Amino acid sequence: MRNTRTQVAIVGAGPAGLLLSHLLHRSGIESVVIDIRTHEEIATTIRAGILEPGSVRMLVDSGVSDRVLTEGDRHDGVVLRFDGDNHRIDFRELVGESVWLYPQTDVFIDLADRRKTDGGDVRYGVRDTAVSIDPPVVTFTEADGRPTRLAADLIVGADGSRSNCRHAFPDGLRTEWFREYPFAWFGFLAEAPQSHPELIYARSEHGFALVSQRTSTMQRMYFQCAPTERPEDWDDERIWAEMRKRVNGNGFTLQEGPISGKTVLPFRSFVTAPMRHGRLLLAGDAAHTVPPTGAKGLNLALADVRVLHEVIDEYFAGGSDESLRRYTDRALDRVWKAQHFSYWATTLLHSIDGASPFDLERQRGELAMLTESRRGAAYFAEGYTGSWGPS
Ligand code: PHB
Repeated sequence: MRNTRTQVAIVGAGPAGLLLSHLLHRSGIESVVIDIRTHEEIATTIRAGILEPGSVRMLVDSGVSDRVLTEGDRHDGVVLRFDGDNHRIDFRELVGESVWLYPQTDVFIDLADRRKTDGGDVRYGVRDTAVSIDPPVVTFTEADGRPTRLAADLIVGADGSRSNCRHAFPDGLRTEWFREYPFAWFGFLAEAPQSHPELIYARSEHGFALVSQRTSTMQRMYFQCAPTERPEDWDDERIWAEMRKRVNGNGFTLQEGPISGKTVLPFRSFVTAPMRHGRLLLAGDAAHTVPPTGAKGLNLALADVRVLHEVIDEYFAGGSDESLRRYTDRALDRVWKAQHFSYWATTLLHSIDGASPFDLERQRGELAMLTESRRGAAYFAEGYTGSWGPS
């Protein structure tokens, strides 16, 4: 067994874990990041693609990379499509902000490159991770087979929705809030030109569809489906037939092409609190999951890291637990706002099985209020861009 020590042991080398390690490095605090996945696995998993302005500022201002500004696409609004018509929500005009289309895989690559350039200690492909809180110790088997014991002042669990770290909290200490939805998204990549310059969130009688983008020749799209659907049951023609029904019409036609990257994404809302126990702190999906409508998951994880960096900085500066104690309340403030937005944007646009004629007309009334009222549109724009002020 190899015995090592660091100030902060970070479990999970996704964007949250790596950004925290980077920010701590800038504050002169040492960390070791471990992940059971390989660099290749993380870099090739397709995830969402929208960054709030606050996320972009964090990446650029902290010196991770400005590739998001040079290679990402700034989007000043999105389209809500219903009853066959497009209704644009203009973020820039309404709240003075924009979002950036920049896939999570690129955020990961920028962070991993930055950590490597700065000599960061990131260990991919480890196995058998076990976490104990008192004293804070992470044990694991290195990719080369060597058993390792890593002692730390603090442990951060940024290890995703199936978090090991969350389960290291003593029994009965956590409260969990959970909501399941009776549908999922079928996601796919299409080798085709852009159908529209901005994202289209479409409500139709056949269910929801989202037209997003990746590059000028590759598009990302989703349609609402049953959680039990299997990607292998859907060939290209069947997928396009479903998309056409939901999106085409009134002079609008989707650009089609060969399909790859088919996945079914589950829909869940989940929050656990507290997000800290003793010297163990949770960040991102380890502590909360949102449904993908509105692409809040990654942004929320990065917002946790902003708060976490501050409280850890204060902890090492003053040596008291007081700042750690404030972490949960500060992080949860934003978490519940994002939970509300993701839930609301979902119910606004999806077809709910068993909805009554009243429910359907009410949903149209809500969409009309949003798109016809400047204040309604601004409320959506504020949520989408995450312009809720600092937590
Ligand atoms: C994506 O491009 O993957 C995406 C965009 C917006 C969403 C969800 C996913 O709301």
